[in-house]
Amino acid sequence: MNKVSKLSKAAPLSRTRNDLGENVRLVSVEVLNATLMDLVDLTNSVRMAHWNVKGRHFIGLHQLFETFYDELGPVTDEVAERIVQLGGTPTGGSQSVAEGTRLPAYPIEIRQGADHLAALADRYAALAKSVREGIDTTDEAGDADTADLLTGLSRALDKDLWMIEAHLEEGKG
Ligand SMILES: [Fe+2]
Repeated sequence: MNKVSKLSKAAPLSRTRNDLGENVRLVSVEVLNATLMDLVDLTNSVRMAHWNVKGRHFIGLHQLFETFYDELGPVTDEVAERIVQLGGTPTGGSQSVAEGTRLPAYPIEIRQGADHLAALADRYAALAKSVREGIDTTDEAGDADTADLLTGLSRALDKDLWMIEAHLEEGKG
């Protein structure tokens, strides 16, 4: 059984007047749900960094991490709503995310700014890579709109990765 037929058994698509074929929509819903779960996980990781960071750069990093999670809210919403537009069901609940995230668990023991920056940089880079793969998958499947949405998302993730890595440059976090 291929991936798509397994998916359609697990979560049949709702009827829609959207002219994209069901197989196209199934591919996009799979890519988008994987992205959604990573985004929810990343948002929680960014919050962990916002809460737990300590050290002499505390206030700058505490505020930077707040701007990151403020940005993640609307893009996560866009991804989830695209899933519904295609007849799918967003799997963004805590239990689904815990099972489905492709990101590693965020460490709870770290405190120093540099450690949080490095942990976030790894996760932003990993998600941006997955999103870029999703651009190709959805584009090849014939869903240019989802590919475009993911293109904007990968650009936003790259921007935040740049900001994180710029802080890491100093090496003292
Ligand atoms: Fe806060």
